[in-house]
Amino acid sequence: MSTVEKYIRSIPDFPEQGIIFRDITTVTQDPEGLQLAIKSMEDKIKDKDFDVIVGLEARGFMFGTPIAFDMKKAFVPIRKKGKLPWKTISESYDLEYGSAEIEIHTDAIKEGQKVVIVDDLIATGGTVKAAINLIERLGGEVVSCLFLTELAGLNGRKALEGYNVESVVVYEGK
Ligand code: PRP
Ligand code: MG
Repeated sequence: MSTVEKYIRSIPDFPEQGIIFRDITTVTQDPEGLQLAIKSMEDKIKDKDFDVIVGLEARGFMFGTPIAFDMKKAFVPIRKKGKLPWKTISESYDLEYGSAEIEIHTDAIKEGQKVVIVDDLIATGGTVKAAINLIERLGGEVVSCLFLTELAGLNGRKALEGYNVESVVVYEGK
């Protein structure tokens, strides 16, 4: 078991029967857990050349912002539809449960900027694929997709073929 994994709370049958929810609030509510999580994630991208961390609402903000701050990079949020006040572009995607739409400000990424996407979890990969589309539509280059946890049984990596994918804790199931 990795050291960060100790801090993740696994909740059976949430939000529905047969799903094990991987709760990362038990990571961030512990000072040592939070340190370990951020440092382990940073370690995965320490050799990457990049300009911007893009964090995915909501749980991606919890990890993306401290990483950007620590590594002295910019932070850009991708938000759920209707939350960003300026000009936006949007992408729809299928979620593990239902569907959704996310947006980015059109001036948030400049042509040619190198981007690392940060989120707490990759499951089907639908959310991060939509985020990649938004970033590429603005002329950004995604150099890595970085996650604290990965549900390998949902094949998110397959949806991201050709992209660098890094995750700290990998669960073999769903
Ligand atoms: C969860 C999780 C990831 C995404 C992973 O977010 O935080 O962002 O689903 O699923 P996928 O790989 O199948 O797309 P969710 O939209 O449930 O909500 P939150 O982060 O706002 O809590
Ligand atoms: Mg999320």
